[in-house]
Amino acid sequence: MNKVVLIGCGNVGMSYVYSLLNQRTNVHTVALIDLNQDRVKGEVLDLSHGLPFAPSNVEFKVGSYEDCRDATIVVIAAGANQAPGETRMDLINKNSKIFKDIVTNVMANGFNGIFLVATNPLDVMTYLTYKYSGLDSSKVLGSGTTLDTARLRYLVGSKLDINPKNVHGYVIGEHGDSEFVPWSIASAGSLGLTECINSEERNSIEDKVRSSAYEIINLKGATYYGIGMCLVRITNAILSDENTIMTVSTYDKEKDCYYGYPSILNSTGVKKRTELDLSLDEREKLEKSIAAIKDAISKVI
Ligand SMILES: NC(=O)c1ccc[n+]([C@@H]2O[C@H](COP(=O)([O-])OP(=O)(O)OC[C@H]3O[C@@H](n4cnc5c(N)ncnc54)[C@H](O)[C@@H]3O)[C@@H](O)[C@H]2O)c1
Repeated sequence: MNKVVLIGCGNVGMSYVYSLLNQRTNVHTVALIDLNQDRVKGEVLDLSHGLPFAPSNVEFKVGSYEDCRDATIVVIAAGANQAPGETRMDLINKNSKIFKDIVTNVMANGFNGIFLVATNPLDVMTYLTYKYSGLDSSKVLGSGTTLDTARLRYLVGSKLDINPKNVHGYVIGEHGDSEFVPWSIASAGSLGLTECINSEERNSIEDKVRSSAYEIINLKGATYYGIGMCLVRITNAILSDENTIMTVSTYDKEKDCYYGYPSILNSTGVKKRTELDLSLDEREKLEKSIAAIKDAISKVI
């Protein structure tokens, strides 16, 4: 029986759980935890009233940290989000303090499952979760650049008028301003994207991917549906033992850093990181992105 504990029932957390409710999954119980107890009680009732129309039966409950004892996955979406004009890295001080408490509470209740982190700055928070929990790195991952990769696939699909599901490309590195697209390994169907999209248009797509969150935050205050769908996709890859490749934030032992990188997910968590045949220029961009994350980590640890 798979239990998911969600910590942080704001826009992102609830978009995740609402997407879970609407998809066929292997999740049997979802326990909700938030500082705002009334919100949790209200969310449990509201979600449960949708069950007669849902594809799978899921029990929603008001959770406590004791629920972590037998949880398969603990998802953390608690903490501050970006205000207009703020970068993800600007959230680091507020959210690192919150994470120390949260991860300590989870572990104090005997958790031995998989952590999935959504809070920004994503790669730093995932690293802190790894450090504070003491779990093996295969059991700690973040949503990484899955959302950015989804944005890339959507934009390329629109440009070429093909289904985004047939676009095979990644955004890698920091889930933030130093992320980038390794175009040399991106394709649509059997065509390499460097063959069918010129460099000016590729740069424009990459800029749009990088600025998407800022644009949405300026327009509606926060982003949450896209990340909700990404978190469900990651959850299903783990619970259904899929061996699916996603650009989640995973641990690079050599660099002692977490960042978005195509990694194989199954019921053990992160089975392994894939090998990428990057160009020299792409390798340099990745090094810069890793340096930006490590610099941020050094300020809080
Ligand atoms: N990974 C991604 O791609 C991605 C995308 C969008 C947003 N985010 C990030 O997700 C995080 C949440 O965003 P949001 O829009 O849902 O924010 P929100 O303000 O709507 O929700 C945050 C929730 O966390 C709760 N909370 C705060 N401290 C807590 C604690 N110690 N214990 C339990 N609950 C606590 C708050 O009560 C609130 O309900 C932000 O850091 C945001 O930047 C990540």
